Amino acid sequence: MRHLMSPLDFTVEELDRLFDLAGDIEANVGKYAHACDGKILATCFYEPSTRTRLSFESAMLSLGGNVLGFSDAGSSSAAKGESVSDTIRTISCFADICAMRHPKEGAPMVAASRSQIPVINAGDGGHQHPTQTLTDLLTIRSLKGRLDNFTIGLCGDLKFGRTVHSLINALVRYEGIKFIFISPDELKVPDYITDMLKEKNIPYEEVIRLEAVMPQLDFLYMTRVQRERFFNEEDYVRLKDFYILDKAKMELAKEDMLVLHPLPRVNEISVEVDDDPRAAYFRQVQYGVYVRMALILTLLDIHVD
Ligand code: NCD
Repeated sequence: MRHLMSPLDFTVEELDRLFDLAGDIEANVGKYAHACDGKILATCFYEPSTRTRLSFESAMLSLGGNVLGFSDAGSSSAAKGESVSDTIRTISCFADICAMRHPKEGAPMVAASRSQIPVINAGDGGHQHPTQTLTDLLTIRSLKGRLDNFTIGLCGDLKFGRTVHSLINALVRYEGIKFIFISPDELKVPDYITDMLKEKNIPYEEVIRLEAVMPQLDFLYMTRVQRERFFNEEDYVRLKDFYILDKAKMELAKEDMLVLHPLPRVNEISVEVDDDPRAAYFRQVQYGVYVRMALILTLLDIHVD
């Protein structure tokens, strides 16, 4: 039995197969409409979510399966003090596969170690968010035809943003990737990530001003300041509008640069950018469904001819 805790749980070759499958699903969605007949996905979400939970549910329903779950720790037995280990042993009796989001780093991993069904980490604290990374990689591959030789700018909350940590982890396995980290000093990418980049000789720069690096970028990955992970509201208020991507800044970018964002957006991308053909964040949401369909099939070892 296989779980997904980190994007590195799949080799580059396995990811290629997963993305090929997602591409086939996109092109022939009807062919997969009954692939998961009789199967049940549980979504156990101890933290808020719109896209991740609903795209898992949409993915399972599009495969002919069913879904159950909870979207709030307060409405689950966690409110009575139940551990994730006991919860997952219970969920294993109700479902065939589980997607779990939890504010504590490592909680889905603890669940996986006690589970009788595959567990997917749908975001654990500020740590990892592997299915967002699969979404990001599929978006890049689908829109640009490759995953290597890019300069990617990651902008905003690089300290607490789990999507950022997962994406960097995954991209270092491709040739010719250069990172430009754009953040205020307080929200810089953690040392364990820059140490890993140094060790692997992967080029990166850390800058504060977005305008200064805009012309170099092939991708700009914008992120929200992660209010729920701040220790005090004052710091959040001071930093929340540090970056606002608007039309004037987009004029500095290459004509074929693409803007990605895991969403939800707060103020960091002005709505005036949404109509720019380079704004790819809503297309990214759609790729998230295809890649989760491919992931469910892969973890349940279901093959469709
Ligand atoms: C992200 C998350 O939950 O980490 N959202 C998502 O799943 N698409 C990003 C965020 O909340 O800022």
